[in-house]
Amino acid sequence: MTAPIIRPWQNDDVNDIARIMAAHALWQRYGVTVKGATVRLRTLWHDQEQGFVAVDAQAGKVIGFALYNQRSFGDCGYIRLFGVDTAATSQGLGRRLLSAVETALSQAGVARLLLLCAEWNSGARRFYEGNGFAGVGLLPDWVIDGTNEVIYAKHLMRIGSPLKR
Ligand SMILES: CC(C)(COP(=O)(O)OP(=O)(O)OC[C@H]1O[C@@H](n2cnc3c(N)ncnc32)[C@H](O)[C@@H]1OP(=O)(O)O)[C@@H](O)C(=O)NCCC(=O)NCCS
Repeated sequence: MTAPIIRPWQNDDVNDIARIMAAHALWQRYGVTVKGATVRLRTLWHDQEQGFVAVDAQAGKVIGFALYNQRSFGDCGYIRLFGVDTAATSQGLGRRLLSAVETALSQAGVARLLLLCAEWNSGARRFYEGNGFAGVGLLPDWVIDGTNEVIYAKHLMRIGSPLKR
């Protein structure tokens, strides 16, 4: 079997990503539907959100995605949406996607990376902690009522203040 390919995301990937999100128990808890996800993803594409997808070359479909931007809070990278199709988890795709994002950010001179993860999402929290992120705070009832979001942070490189460069 050929290993999935990691490549930058494209407008045509929106339907596959929306399908993965709407089918996943995580996003169902956030009330995500195919229609809602499609609208949001099209807006992100229009706003030039960056991202990578994992593609099953044989089936010709997207099976994982990591969408991010470069200059959020305090000049940090921020991973906005990250997921792997439930049928393809625990095969190293999450790690490969994360690595693609981190490499792209480092090459762009972005030294810090942030993301939010639901406090109850223990699998993803293990994944992030296993990939060098530290939980540094909690945002109570942030995206939906009754769910606290853990702020995860990672230094990609230590370059000091961007204002001093
Ligand atoms: C979190 C996620 C992106 C990881 O992707 P992945 O392709 O499975 O990750 P990898 O195969 O590179 O690494 C898997 C490792 O991460 C951890 N992990 C990931 N998901 C896990 C889960 N649901 N339960 C337990 N451990 C998990 C484990 O340490 C696992 O190692 P193992 O397979 O040897 O047990 C994926 O599980 C996912 O899409 N989850 C649902 C969506 C989600 O939670 N997104 C993040 C929102 S902030």
